[in-house]
Amino acid sequence: MAEALRIAVAGLGTVGGGLLSLLQTNGDSLAQRGGRSIEVTAVCARDKTKDRGVDLSAIAWYDDPAVMATEAEYDVLVELIGGSEGPAKLACEAAFAAGHHVVTANKALLAEHGTALAKAAEAAGVTLAYEAAVAGGIPIIKAIREGLAGNQVSSLHGILNGTCNYILSAMRDTGRDFGDILTEAQELGYAEADPSFDVDGVDAAHKLALLASLAFGTEVDFANVHIEGIRSISAEDFQYAGELGFEIKLLGIVDGGEDGVRQRVHPTLVPAAAPVAAVDGVFNAVVTEGDFVGTSVFVGRGAGAGPTASAVAADICDIAAGRGGHAFGMPADALAESRSLSMDGREGGYYVRMRVIDRPGVIAEVTGILRDQAISMESIIQRGRAPDEPVDVVLVLHETEESRMIGALEAIAALDTVSEKPYLIRIERFGA
Ligand code: HSE
Repeated sequence: MAEALRIAVAGLGTVGGGLLSLLQTNGDSLAQRGGRSIEVTAVCARDKTKDRGVDLSAIAWYDDPAVMATEAEYDVLVELIGGSEGPAKLACEAAFAAGHHVVTANKALLAEHGTALAKAAEAAGVTLAYEAAVAGGIPIIKAIREGLAGNQVSSLHGILNGTCNYILSAMRDTGRDFGDILTEAQELGYAEADPSFDVDGVDAAHKLALLASLAFGTEVDFANVHIEGIRSISAEDFQYAGELGFEIKLLGIVDGGEDGVRQRVHPTLVPAAAPVAAVDGVFNAVVTEGDFVGTSVFVGRGAGAGPTASAVAADICDIAAGRGGHAFGMPADALAESRSLSMDGREGGYYVRMRVIDRPGVIAEVTGILRDQAISMESIIQRGRAPDEPVDVVLVLHETEESRMIGALEAIAALDTVSEKPYLIRIERFGA
């Protein structure tokens, strides 16, 4: 067997610990598959004294990841620090400057600097691999970059954040509010103490930007992802969506064509029969549409020590076996400049929940506005009877251009009889 592949691990948190454990358990089979054994020669973390259940005494210890990346003896930097700037970025740049490969789970770093880092890796003649950055254990990077290479991908959508999917599934199943379920998720360790990156859709948007680049052969363009999170979804929305035959999911969606691509993360009503509708809890899913292959569905665990370490180990194995390749499936210089399509031009259906004063003629005012914007209604739900008090009214609207829908919502919100800003959820009839 060839010489061992030496790895330097920066960050020994949940994923780093999971990787060490995986190497202990499956190191032999990984060595057979990669043709070389994997040897950890350097590690870097904040707390040297912490018991990680693995003997690190024979491994070089560093306090600074960039120093480790520059000075240690290794072949592959495994960056598990996180964050789009600072130590993670410096360590990766230092690794490339020293001629080493990089394996990273860092979606924020790649969403912000993916194209530049891919160019740096190519200039150094080394590999930048990031299977663990998107959808945890689902091998979706490899699937799109290699498995679907023979296709023109026309669209892709997916559940890219397990925290949100857990919260939404629990809200639907228990009828409880967002805040309540978020607190429970934090107690169970499914949500971070500061949950904003997850629940405001940023984490999913980071991942979507990477998938969009792979699928459409464009530069990574996180800045142009339209992002909405899940904080405004109410317990009642699940009730109404269920009655209408829909599930509510936070989806990352990218579609487009010759004019450009539209990247978006937002709550979405999908038919109960859609592949993503059945994916609950902390699971992730990605659905792709290729011109020759048709629809492909990928489902699996999107986070956690085991699934993420599994993806990191797969990248290490590829490098051991000499399976390098370009980070985004083609030389970074060949990636097209991303041309972003605005949300205004999105065509689709809409679910709108509003609070209106229960009084004769109110619905006529609302439908008058819809008529003026040439928006056609598919169904309406009104719950309760409370003369001169606010009640929920839910509208389902046929396919229309988003700019007209926004115009109508502004006019509806301005009515005296509408007591709160209407809440809109886009409908995508995947699988219907
Ligand atoms: N926090 C993410 C999630 C996992 O909940 O899916 C890491 O990106």
